[in-house]
Order: sequence, then structure tokens, then C-alpha cells
Amino acid sequence: MFNSKIIGLGKYLPKKVVTNYDLSEIMDTSDEWIIERTGIETRRHIVKNDDDTTAVMAFKASKIALQRAKIKPNDIDLILFATLSPDYYFPGSGVLLQNFLKIENCPAMDIRNQCSGFIYALSTADQFIKSGKYKNILVVGSENHSGGLDMTTRGRNVSVIFGDGAGAAVLTREIDLKRGIQSFSIYSDGQHALELSLRGPSTNRWVPEILEENNPDDTTYYPNMNGQTVFKNAILRFSEVIQEALDQNKWSVNDLDLLIPHQANLRISQFIQKKFNLNDNQVFNNIMRYGNTTAASIPIALTEAWEEGKVKKDSKIILAAFGSGFTWGGISLIW
Ligand code: UT7
Repeated sequence: MFNSKIIGLGKYLPKKVVTNYDLSEIMDTSDEWIIERTGIETRRHIVKNDDDTTAVMAFKASKIALQRAKIKPNDIDLILFATLSPDYYFPGSGVLLQNFLKIENCPAMDIRNQCSGFIYALSTADQFIKSGKYKNILVVGSENHSGGLDMTTRGRNVSVIFGDGAGAAVLTREIDLKRGIQSFSIYSDGQHALELSLRGPSTNRWVPEILEENNPDDTTYYPNMNGQTVFKNAILRFSEVIQEALDQNKWSVNDLDLLIPHQANLRISQFIQKKFNLNDNQVFNNIMRYGNTTAASIPIALTEAWEEGKVKKDSKIILAAFGSGFTWGGISLIW
């Protein structure tokens, strides 16, 4: 019998800081609106002609995580790569990362569950470790949003929110079952698939079709979001999976050392904090600095919390996410 345990964390953020004021110069928005509705002050964007891509950022975060885990790349048995913005339509970014790390032979799998991608990937890693199939697993979340956003007033409800970045975690076997991942729950509800989506180019709208229509009003190849529907569902589903994680462990709210919610919107985190009556030290947020980095948001936040000394031996932690699909999930762990 094994548990799975995180033994190394790393993050990478591209160097270009984009402020709300920068955005207000290219679209009709304002620092006041963005802060009031989302809490975001800055986000990072990949600099054109820099070498950063989704897989390259994942590589930079993974190198740090591996170093901290004291694990050599060739000791990794499986790569799980969560992203909605892979380098290519195919192949997935997992194999690119494997090549950058010069891992000679290990399976690499892309996980396509958007904002919940890291939770799905960690849950998958946990099961492969618990089954005894693999010992060391590298789990990453990485996103390159900035190049694909509609940076005009038309796309402002989406483009002010999202940022680029990557986070990585190395997991290994743990024989003490009171440590490591204690429980996970993952869910989907495809009836809301198009409420937060990017539909073309895809097999539903192949590139030749888009080019042939040549329609300047076509926004299907930008991310589209029905913000209020997503917001309402996020609050509901975040609450459910956090409660489930508490119940699965018989933890009270006071037992919880740290909640790391997917950084979707500071207002969502604040609503959840209030609902569960958590104090400021129990909830970690960094969306103010990085915006919403989708599958990268939880590993970036977990890494930052660890770097700041907020994740300690015996810490009881819950990770929770909600996003496009809709997909959502929660993980409880003891450090
Ligand atoms: O990570 C995946 C999960 N994602 C989320 O959880 C996001 C959930 N949704 C949200 O966070 C919020 O819905 C948003 C932040 C996206 C939008 O906030 P909202 O309070 O729901 O605003 P709204 O979409 O209802 O728009 C209110 C007004 C509209 O103007 P009118 O129609 O009232 O004149 C929008 O056109 O705000 C306008 N607006 C903006 N104004 C300035 C929308 N985006 C902007 C903007 N700057 N960037």
C-alpha cells in the first residue's frame, strides 16, 4: 500500500508584467473595473520572440521542481501535462517536455481539463502511484494564453483575466498513509461545454472553413465566456468539493491549514473564504499578481505558498478547482 506525496515544486512566470493601465490603453477598460470585479492588478505575458512556449515554461518550472525533489529527469516514470493551450494542435506538450528533459523513455500524457487540469492530473498521478505501477511522476500545468486573446474591447471580459505561466510538482511513493494525498474528487458536466470555450479552429470549425468565411465578426477562434453563469457555477462547485474534502477526512474547518483555490477570480475566493468562515492565513491567493493561469494556477500558487513557508510538515491542505467543461474537483493532502 502506498500513498502519493509531493516532494518538489517549481514555478515559472514570463518576465513581461502587464498592468491594468497597460490594458486600458488598448481597450475600453479601467484599473478600477478590473480590480473591483476580479482583484487582478497585473498578469504576465510571454514576450514575442522570447523562447517561452507552453512546453518551454513547463520545462523551466519542472527543472526547479526536480532539483528540489532531488530526482534526476531519467528517474521520472510518467509525465502528466495539464494545459488548454498546448504548443501544437498535435502532438501534445507532454512529449515536448519529455524531450527537453532528455528523458529517454517514459510515457507522457496531456490532460485536457482546463482550469481543473492540475486536479485531474494529480488525481491520475495518485492512482498510478497507489496502484504500484509508477514510482515518480512529474505533473505540470502550463498555459500560454496571451497570444490567443482578443485584446480589443470586444474581448475585454476575457482578455483582462488570463495570464501566462507554469507550475510543476514531482510526486513519489509514501509508505506512511497519514501523509501525502488523502482524497480526491473530480467531476464534469458537459451540458455547459460552450459556456467557456474556444471552438475554432477545431474539427468543428476547420481552418479552411474559417478562412473561406473570412468573417471579421467571427469570435469563435477566441476564448468565449458567459461570465455570470461561470461565476455562479464556480461558487457552487468550489463549495461542494471543499466540503467533500473536509468530510472525507473528518476535518473541521479549523483543522484546515491552507486552502488553495484555483485562481479564477479573487471575488470567488473571498466568497468561499467567507462561506467556510476561514481566516486570511487559511486561504492562499496570488491572482492579484498573475491573473488566471488556468491549469497552471494551482501549482504556481502551491509553489509560492511553499516558498513563503506557508506549507509545512503536517500541514493539512485542500486544493480546489472549477472551470471550462464544466469540470471541477478537489484534493486533500497532508504535507
Ligand atoms: O477560470 C475559469 C473560471 N472562470 C471564472 O470563474 C470567471 C467567472 N466570471 C467572472 O469572474 C466575472 O463574470 C467576470 C469578471 C468575467 C465579469 O464580471 P461581471 O461582474 O460578471 O461582469 P459582466 O460580464 O456582467 O459585465 C458587466 C459590465 C458589462 O457592461 P454593461 O452591459 O453593463 O454595459 C460589460 O460589457 O461590464 C462590462 N465589462 C467590462 N467593463 C470594463 C466586461 N468586461 C469589462 C472590462 N472592463 N474588462
